Amino acid sequence: MTFTDELRARFEDAGQGHVFAHVDSLEPEAAARFAAELAEVDLELVGRLAAVLEVPDGAAADPKLEPCTVINGAEPAEEEWIAGMLSLAAGEVGFVLVAGGQGSRLGFDGPKGAFPVGPLTDRTLFDWHAGRILAAGRRHGFRPTWAVMTSRTNDEATRAFFAENDHFGMPAEDVWFFSQDMLPALDEDGRILLSGPGELFLAPNGHGGTLQALSKSGVLGRFAERGVKTLSYFQVDNPMARPADPLFVGHHVMNGSEMSSKVVPKRDPMEKVGVLGLVDGVLGCIEYSDLSEELRETRTADGDLVFNAGNIAVHMIDCGFVERLNAGGDLDLPWHVARKRISTIDDAGAPIQVDGVKFETFVFDALGRAKATVTLEVDRAEEFSPVKNAEGADSPATCRADLSRLGRSIIGRSGDTVEVDPRAAETADEFAERGLSVIERAGGLLVEPGA
Ligand code: UD1
Repeated sequence: MTFTDELRARFEDAGQGHVFAHVDSLEPEAAARFAAELAEVDLELVGRLAAVLEVPDGAAADPKLEPCTVINGAEPAEEEWIAGMLSLAAGEVGFVLVAGGQGSRLGFDGPKGAFPVGPLTDRTLFDWHAGRILAAGRRHGFRPTWAVMTSRTNDEATRAFFAENDHFGMPAEDVWFFSQDMLPALDEDGRILLSGPGELFLAPNGHGGTLQALSKSGVLGRFAERGVKTLSYFQVDNPMARPADPLFVGHHVMNGSEMSSKVVPKRDPMEKVGVLGLVDGVLGCIEYSDLSEELRETRTADGDLVFNAGNIAVHMIDCGFVERLNAGGDLDLPWHVARKRISTIDDAGAPIQVDGVKFETFVFDALGRAKATVTLEVDRAEEFSPVKNAEGADSPATCRADLSRLGRSIIGRSGDTVEVDPRAAETADEFAERGLSVIERAGGLLVEPGA
């Protein structure tokens, strides 16, 4: 019997027996698939998520928000540079890209990393990241390992895209894939939502899920076997992220930090980035919507925003810290709820839309658990231009323009559209040192490795 008495009893006892309402209409294969899906649901966790919904919004007291200490990355820090270079050269840094999200705002059908953002070529987000990692290996003389986090919605397509593109020049055995968990969406009464008669409505559990998935998947152990001590964490949407920055690695190592973050000064008070700051004295990320207009606009005597540490979601995270977070078998990061219209079915099995809730944990909520942290301010023009929206701010158009502007500053020319393959050079100094040439291509100027 596909739906065993034991399975039914577990769901019924948890008040979720409605998930079986339509199973009589399922073909045997679909029924078997659904039973397997149900068997994987952690009903104890679902119970805790439903309890989160019982706490009315705004019930928590207003937390005290303060800015945090930020190190200015433009200040000379030779010792940190050297420490960072030594750590990279020793192969102590492993790379973790989070690419499990759904990219729905961009309206792109496929893994977000497959989105093309080269100002001249169709270079995809994944290619930019791979290029930077490969170049780091060349520059510092080590063999990089790259773990890419997917989710069930895009895992297969992501692996296929990497295979089709020959892993963007990285040896296939050095690129690992692991998947974050999915969680059922609930209705406002805490009932599990179905997306069809034999299918749960599941959503990725947020980028905080990376910390759990690293451990559960065995990737953390495989990193340790390769001598990796610290993970360089970055998001798929920002092709300017520098995953192997000696200065950042050095500050992290020399401060004995367990989790470090890069920030950029906010473009303006309204920019929709989270800011790193102290929440009741504990380091965390204050989301744009949680900062009152008054705090958002407050400035220092120098005219800078007080809450100015824009989170670009680039972190160094110690492997030992990830292990410690997972030690109790449960990450225990706070749950964030996202209320959405969700396509589900009614009691008769007809498609309807209801108000539902998705649950996520956020990686930056781990900052408060770290024994020591570093927050490093870097130059936005060099390191941050995410692709989030189809149009307007943080769109493919702004990202291409920023990549081209960066390319122009690397090769020291003005006017043209420029694309510098990150495998070739990341800075003007590196471009000059390597004696690279500039070629005319497709109405612009291109720099490629070895050219
Ligand atoms: C995020 C940060 C924000 C920061 C900004 C910088 C949150 C809540 N906010 O905003 O503080 O200023 O980035 O660009 O994260 N992802 C997964 N699995 C998931 C959910 C997301 O892998 O379950 C990945 C996505 O693929 C993406 C990244 O996490 O690479 C960011 O997620 P997204 O939801 O787009 O965050 P933002 O709202 O843009």
